[in-house]
Amino acid sequence: MTKTILRALRGEVLPTPPIWMMRQAGRYLPEYRATRAEAGDFLSLCYNSELAAEVTLQPIRRYGFDAAILFADILLLPQALGVDLWFETGEGPRMTTVTTPDELAALKPTEAIHETLSPVYETVRILSRELPKETTLIGFAGAPWTVATYMIAGRGTPDQGPAHALKAADRATFAGLIDRLTETTVEYLSMQVKAGVEVVKIFDSWAGSLQGQDFHDFAVEPARKITAALKARHPGLPVIAFPRGAGERYAGLHATIGADCIALDDGVSAEWAAANVQTGGCVQGNLASHHMVTGGQALIDETRRITRAFSKGPHIFNLGHGITPDADPENVQLMIDTVRAGA
Ligand code: CP3
Repeated sequence: MTKTILRALRGEVLPTPPIWMMRQAGRYLPEYRATRAEAGDFLSLCYNSELAAEVTLQPIRRYGFDAAILFADILLLPQALGVDLWFETGEGPRMTTVTTPDELAALKPTEAIHETLSPVYETVRILSRELPKETTLIGFAGAPWTVATYMIAGRGTPDQGPAHALKAADRATFAGLIDRLTETTVEYLSMQVKAGVEVVKIFDSWAGSLQGQDFHDFAVEPARKITAALKARHPGLPVIAFPRGAGERYAGLHATIGADCIALDDGVSAEWAAANVQTGGCVQGNLASHHMVTGGQALIDETRRITRAFSKGPHIFNLGHGITPDADPENVQLMIDTVRAGA
């Protein structure tokens, strides 16, 4: 029997939507915190294949989600290209910047990335063996724009200001970085597929800050190129695109990107998205993450409303963004029970 997530991605309308959660392996789970402590720190956990597979499996054991997402990070790819990456406790990622033609040229050649990333492929191989047969394994990478915003600023930024500034000041270097990331992302995801992932997701967390033609050139086009290249190499591979913050520009994206599924953040209503996005194919989303902190009747009502709004088309239930460390694991169970009880 085909796995539920794969059926939804093919456009099937299921009686209740399959379900998984962005950042489902994370700090809100005590068993994750214990394994991260065993690994030492977050990056050591990402590169420890046995332990990365273990934290990927933890939310599957606890909740029986329909999909597992490989445990890794979107910033491993720039690290594989030669930038220094570290995480400041309580603050987030830091990295050496790439903002000049020389720094762009100094990045490692594409074929060199697999040396750093091989533990990630090993994590995938372990998971392919150990996941329950009904669970779909999702691989992922950051979208070029989102990864570039970190590489240009050297850290996370509220408005992606440094990346917008480089785009305005030196468009050739900026576009060259986007092209390098597009090309290497294809190779990275292709190796994940060869190792055993069944679906890939492209995370463009900062797509919403691109305006006008820039949204097309630097969010839609790279995602389209990555999707087309992967589908040429791996016929039938389902692709999920997540251009977070796209707003009304979510409409039509299945066709322009060529993705099987568009992941929605909670900035758009499910009713609007059912009428304007789901008409193009499967959608994923879009419960606001704060319900995993607050719970109660509001969680139940919102979960039912979203499930009902998307019930006439292909839908994968998910949050609108990643679950936060202050979430209550019991609220996750309440969300799952509500979805599976039907709208
Ligand atoms: O969804 C999953 O569970 C799969 C694994 C995954 C992680 N990060 C693990 C992680 C995925 C898909 C990501 C994507 C990611 N990483 C994005 C895009 C998606 C998004 O959330 O917008 C971005 C922008 C990053 C970069 C990144 N990694 C940041 C900004 C941070 C710090 C955030 C924080 O809360 O401290 C990380 C760290 C990170 N990546 C954690 C996890 C579970 C927390 C690390 C920890 O254990 O301390």
